[in-house]
Amino acid sequence: MKQIAFSGIQPSGNLHIGNYFGSIFNWKKIQNNYSCIFSVVDLHSITVKQSPIDLKNKIFEVAAIYIASGIDIKRNIIFVQSEVKQHLELFWILNCMSYFGELSRMTQFKDKSKRLGKDQSSAGLFNYPVLMASDILLYDTNFVPVGYDQKQHIELARDLAERFNKNFGETFNVPEPLIKDDAKIMGLDNPENKMSKSAKSKYNRIDIMDSNDEIVNKIKKAVTDNVQDVKFDKKRKGIYNLLTIYKLLSGMSENEIEHNFSGKNYGYFKKDLTDLLISEISPIRENTLSILKNKNSIEKILEDGSKKARNIANKKIITVKNKLGLGIN
Ligand code: AMP
Ligand code: TRP
Repeated sequence: MKQIAFSGIQPSGNLHIGNYFGSIFNWKKIQNNYSCIFSVVDLHSITVKQSPIDLKNKIFEVAAIYIASGIDIKRNIIFVQSEVKQHLELFWILNCMSYFGELSRMTQFKDKSKRLGKDQSSAGLFNYPVLMASDILLYDTNFVPVGYDQKQHIELARDLAERFNKNFGETFNVPEPLIKDDAKIMGLDNPENKMSKSAKSKYNRIDIMDSNDEIVNKIKKAVTDNVQDVKFDKKRKGIYNLLTIYKLLSGMSENEIEHNFSGKNYGYFKKDLTDLLISEISPIRENTLSILKNKNSIEKILEDGSKKARNIANKKIITVKNKLGLGIN
């Protein structure tokens, strides 16, 4: 039996290369070794305000990007979170075992609630990591392949699994994060902060659906420095970030890359990086567009995926309810 990997992306905003390198790029690599379940986590998206029309479109777009990127739907499950009600059942149960203190310490909550202000920060935003723990724990997940910013949330999932197991007997697998050290992509216009869907300027990120011209322009504008030396130096954050992307795409070592660009200027390096990015992103964009043209087929894939997910999740919920003494059976 293969071990299980579970992950998800929110269908809010445009998927960018930070999301891609933090998640799908690695999912493709692990899909042969694990039994994978990839969700479009739409319930997580509504923790902040969404336009219903945009949300619906993004659900299909994100699912199409998974498939267009090369996630094999025959071997893995792709589904939409809100189609599997068991996530919400476990969510409530785990909420009753989560503490105000531990949820208050979550960096993502602190950041987002600071930005939104007290009166706009929903209870959902606060409880968001508990829903994520429910996603993970329902499927006896062994590994969670995500970007570095989700580590704290996975630790909570581990704590909740251990807490439940201690109090009610062995029920949940305790999941491990699967985080690549270099999968931390910073904003192109401001390499001090991570590349983000919510950054104001479009020059912060490259979206998966960007045209080739947009990719060219955004890399041209990406912030570097005046040193003009193509070297991996963590202190020179702009060029370091671009080199990180180059390393991920080329599969070359840092030494090889530095050797390759020795004596060359940033313009030369940026041109090479742009070519690599376009050759990775443009087929995904074109595949996504063609998948989205056939709405019935993608609906069918997501319905099949939801059915499979529901079967697994339902068994776990029955066990959990029994352990807790809930219900009539
Ligand atoms: P989200 O869009 O918040 O659902 O994030 C989807 C995935 O992208 C998660 O695994 C995140 O950890 C990852 N991610 C988001 N932003 C970045 C970034 N700038 N660099 C690397 N990974 C990221
Ligand atoms: N919280 C994750 C993010 O913002 C998305 C997510 C929701 C997720 N549920 C998950 C990731 C379960 C991995 C496993 O990126």
